[in-house]
Amino acid sequence: MTTENKQFAIIGGTGLTALKNFDIVRREIVMTPYGEPSSPLAYGCINNHSNHKTGQAQANTNEVVFLARHGHAHSIPPHMVNYRANLFALKNVGVTTVIAVNAVGGIRDDMSPGSLVIPDQIIDYTTSRINTFFEKNLTQVTHIDFSYPYSSALSQLILKTAKKEKINIIQGATYAATEGPRLETAAEIQRLKQDGCDIVGMTGMPEAALARELEMGYVSICVNANWAAGLSEELITMEAIEKNLEGGLEKARSLLAALLNTAHQG
Ligand code: HPA
Repeated sequence: MTTENKQFAIIGGTGLTALKNFDIVRREIVMTPYGEPSSPLAYGCINNHSNHKTGQAQANTNEVVFLARHGHAHSIPPHMVNYRANLFALKNVGVTTVIAVNAVGGIRDDMSPGSLVIPDQIIDYTTSRINTFFEKNLTQVTHIDFSYPYSSALSQLILKTAKKEKINIIQGATYAATEGPRLETAAEIQRLKQDGCDIVGMTGMPEAALARELEMGYVSICVNANWAAGLSEELITMEAIEKNLEGGLEKARSLLAALLNTAHQG
């Protein structure tokens, strides 16, 4: 894929409120017609390429904009995230490509806690979220094509980078987006499995669709935090989720650093 003139953003999920070697040069509080994003936008470079003297990120380095989906204090639950404000704010500052990091529960046998996955499909089970920009003051009714919700070129680049860095990552999975904030019942997970879902999370939608509406590339790196409900003997606790996420997120951080380096080298 060509990465020239791309401005990347990372939307960090549970556990990812900071990046490895992310040198922040500037934070910007932005407001949008849809309200306030989850966090200020943090601008910086990975691998210390930022220019401290001017306070400006250097052009043509691995500059990236970072947004914490659940806020810096991790206090905004998935169903309360202002997805429209987040995506609009990123678009407005010139972002062309969003790399989302999402915590998920594993359904398919190989989706064990701590593993990384690049999903290629979504089934949306959310029920009460504002899921479009195209609702008012329209000159014409608009339906986006969403057959393939993730950018396949960017997914390929992530997979290539992971291989180079010897980071294990599973390619291809169907992501079930649930409403939350409660976790699923065991029967709901069986239904998702029958539907063909491989992983389940609460933040993948409407984020991916809104990015498409704004014509931004979008890809997700999912981190398996637990076996989905009823698939293991253990109860799913926040402590267990956080513990399992740690290892996966460490790999995700390294992958993001390598990815941005590669991407910015074109
Ligand atoms: N279900 C939904 N969302 C999640 C899960 C889960 O099991 N784990 C992490 N996010």
